[in-house]
Amino acid sequence: MAASVSDRLLAWYDRHHRDLPWRAPPGAPPMDPYRVWLSEIMLQQTTVAAVKPYFAAFVTRWPTLADLAAADEADVLAAWAGLGYYSRARNLVRAARLAAASGGFPQTEAELRQLPGLGAYTAAAIAAIAFGERAVVVDANVERVVSRLFAIADPLPGGRRAIRQAADAITPTARAGDFAQAMMDLGATICTARAPRCLLCPLAAGCRGRETGDPQQYPVKAPRREKALRRGTAFWIERDGLVWLVRRPPAGILGGMRALPADGWDARIDGDAALPLPGMWQSAGAVRHVFTHFALELEVLVLAVHEDAAPGPGQWWPVDRLDEAGLPTLFERAARLVLAAREGN
Ligand code: ADE
Repeated sequence: MAASVSDRLLAWYDRHHRDLPWRAPPGAPPMDPYRVWLSEIMLQQTTVAAVKPYFAAFVTRWPTLADLAAADEADVLAAWAGLGYYSRARNLVRAARLAAASGGFPQTEAELRQLPGLGAYTAAAIAAIAFGERAVVVDANVERVVSRLFAIADPLPGGRRAIRQAADAITPTARAGDFAQAMMDLGATICTARAPRCLLCPLAAGCRGRETGDPQQYPVKAPRREKALRRGTAFWIERDGLVWLVRRPPAGILGGMRALPADGWDARIDGDAALPLPGMWQSAGAVRHVFTHFALELEVLVLAVHEDAAPGPGQWWPVDRLDEAGLPTLFERAARLVLAAREGN
């Protein structure tokens, strides 16, 4: 009988796996669950290349679950700056505190699922990778591989049921963590979204998507709705080489992050463009930024003040140390716009 999908995939993984800092080598005992969990949260919606330096910085600064559980949320948010989807960082601290208080991570998929920030995918991935549980791990890579392997034509998101059932049918009992990561690696390096490299694929024999001659048609996706475009304003208020920074309210987009003051825009409403101080404001231009559910056009207005006329709570921050403020990418880009306009003058 021909070797099973999982046997062929695992043999390929033994030779071609990616060496990643949060991974144990194929067949070796699992990595520290703290590292597996941290990496899986960082890898949600974020590429391996973007995650690597953040993962290294986090495990250096907070080497154990207990260290992260004892950290200040503000420090964790600042260290997360630039990685995006900041609710992940707030949930990270909450989950660390809950897990540390109960003596460590829960070890089953069902219990992991109860922790903040752990959805179906992440709970299954940690159960398989850190604890060897036979969990069915389905991320976007796995969706692509499985929908092609079985030529599943139901459009996403509805098609996820069929994909999950098919993934369940090929998941082995042994080496569950290696199998999950092998699927991810196959999706990332061979069965890629644009140009699948079927000639190098260990699953090419019997792949129904390949037999259609057009494996890229899978997974079939329902047409997307266009994103709403929001408009807002951010304010750069400067005095003697210092810029005024605020902390955003805990609920809402970029909640709890350090930021330039803004005019109240969020995912559902435009800002009101009300100036926080009277004066001769100048526009530095606008940045466009795409969030999950909306796009934002953010105009950046600049005002120099000569006394401490700060509007509301916040702090003066040295402009030449702005890279230490932990600004999320949107405000980092807004700041760069101001500073670039100045250099151009
Ligand atoms: N994406 C999400 N989790 C991953 C992992 N463990 N290895 C590689 N890519 C991933």
